[in-house]
Amino acid sequence: MTRTISQERYLEAKRTVDDRSLNRTVIDELAPILADSTEIVEIGAGIGTMVQRLLEWELLPDRLTYTLVDVDGDAIESARERLPSWAASAGYTVQEDGAITLRREGQAVRIETAVMDATTHLATATPDLVIGSAFLDLLTPVEVDELFAHLPEGCHCYFPITFDGGTTFQPAVFPAFDEHVVDRYHENMHRRENPGDPHAGRHLLARAANDHTLLAAGASDWVVAPNDGGYRADEADFLHHLVGTVTSALAESPMVDDDRLKSWGDHRHEQIDRNELVYIAHQLDVLLTV
Ligand SMILES: C[S@@+](CC[C@H](N)C(=O)[O-])C[C@H]1O[C@@H](n2cnc3c(N)ncnc32)[C@H](O)[C@@H]1O
Repeated sequence: MTRTISQERYLEAKRTVDDRSLNRTVIDELAPILADSTEIVEIGAGIGTMVQRLLEWELLPDRLTYTLVDVDGDAIESARERLPSWAASAGYTVQEDGAITLRREGQAVRIETAVMDATTHLATATPDLVIGSAFLDLLTPVEVDELFAHLPEGCHCYFPITFDGGTTFQPAVFPAFDEHVVDRYHENMHRRENPGDPHAGRHLLARAANDHTLLAAGASDWVVAPNDGGYRADEADFLHHLVGTVTSALAESPMVDDDRLKSWGDHRHEQIDRNELVYIAHQLDVLLTV
């Protein structure tokens, strides 16, 4: 059984999970920094759910340029399509002239977009604040070093939903194999074609504490469980996508039996259909000044 959920659909379905998970203590520390910002760059911005959230939560100042940077042109195109229609329905006047300017009650937020690698973009940018949500775990520690080397001194950074090595699927399907799948999946983050870091959260926290000024940190675990007989909003699609990510990541692995993995995936998709699957991912939110 295959369930194909596009990356854009996944990022949209992830929005309500992130809304619940973002660490509120870190947000409280972030709020005055946002209020003083004039230039925010969001790297690995996906379809623009963070800027939408910050507007909905009334955390952005009256005058601001907010640049969405992502290597994926489809994600940026999706952001450019969805943000104007969402903003219009939320009562903003929308002007599109290359940038997207949203105006409401004296507030003007200019949203710019760039299809570009994050580090390449930061080499010529001068943001007061850099945001990267569910992003740093996609880079190797060496790539994170390079990225930090391009951040201007005094720049604030907010890196929420940074994966930190914990994945739980319940209830059990094949007890020992369940653990084997999760362990190999974490290991695969080092080995895949574009390697990442399964412990990016703790590495970021240590970097912030030792090399920079740590302003706030806290857990932002994703906790998705059926509630009142079903999953909230589009969270079943979020779960189908994650199960698909695990099975495709391990499809070529010589350490994981193909038939068993396929059966594991089928059982997990069926658990979602029966509103049984519980999923937890351990993540950290870190706010720092460079
Ligand atoms: C897991 S998604 C998170 C998207 C968004 N921040 C969110 O939380 O919904 C990670 C995003 O980072 C982008 N990405 C990966 N590597 C990148 C890089 N080197 N520079 C810029 N964007 C990158 C991907 O295309 C993807 O859209």
